[in-house]
Amino acid sequence: MKDPRTELAALSVAFRERLERAHDQGRTSLLVPVASQSTPEPVPMAVSAQPASAASAQPAASASASRGKKLPLVSIEPELPDRAARVQSLATIAKEVSTCRKCGLCDSRTQTVFARGTGRTRIMFVGEAPGADEDRQGLPFVGRAGQLLDQIIDAAGFDRESIYVANILKCRPPQNRDPKPEETAACTGFLEAQIELVNPKIICALGRHAAQFLTGKPDAPMGQLRGRIHYYREKIMVLPTYHPAALLRNPEWKRVVWDDMQILRREYLR
Ligand code: URA
Repeated sequence: MKDPRTELAALSVAFRERLERAHDQGRTSLLVPVASQSTPEPVPMAVSAQPASAASAQPAASASASRGKKLPLVSIEPELPDRAARVQSLATIAKEVSTCRKCGLCDSRTQTVFARGTGRTRIMFVGEAPGADEDRQGLPFVGRAGQLLDQIIDAAGFDRESIYVANILKCRPPQNRDPKPEETAACTGFLEAQIELVNPKIICALGRHAAQFLTGKPDAPMGQLRGRIHYYREKIMVLPTYHPAALLRNPEWKRVVWDDMQILRREYLR
């Protein structure tokens, strides 16, 4: 049996980390008032017009935290029993990716971009490919689209650090052009391995490229895919929605993305 003092010490460290994270995200309490659970409104999801480097000095969620309503927090799941082995395997794949030369993008990249998030909330978000900020920092969704994604995740009541975020491509296409079929074909084995190891309950596919790949419907338009549950390899739920970069260009689509986040949340908690 565990020493109760050790257990208590571990609990208080975990609680402290959670409090600090809530504080960093601009929340004043870990508890959610019952009244806010009934009628969620779309969150403004405002994004600063500053360049990403300047804007990222602020916690990304603070604008929506103060102005919009959020859905109640979803608790982080207990660790999967074989978590250490999974984390180790992911690290091995990340190392392999870092030296990958399977397609021409290896010549123009600054570095590869593998993933962020612990995966403890068993949701994955999958985007298209790193952009300039991601190529520079080596992490997915850290530019303006990433700030908006963080606001969406926060507003939907998920813990953003525990959600696993990755891309179809691990290297930036020059000038952020669309992925070429041969680049997607060379890279998706890595994503498939990530999905296998993270073992999410549901994957949110951001944009057409991720949606078509994960649903196995390479010709379906976004209008047909988004807002509906599909299945990856007949077992993992996939919910396609618009890419945050598309929301920056078309802010009127935020309403449907907000609707999609409620589907994501409902299916995750079901
Ligand atoms: N867009 C993506 O699809 N992925 C990123 O990591 C950043 C922007």
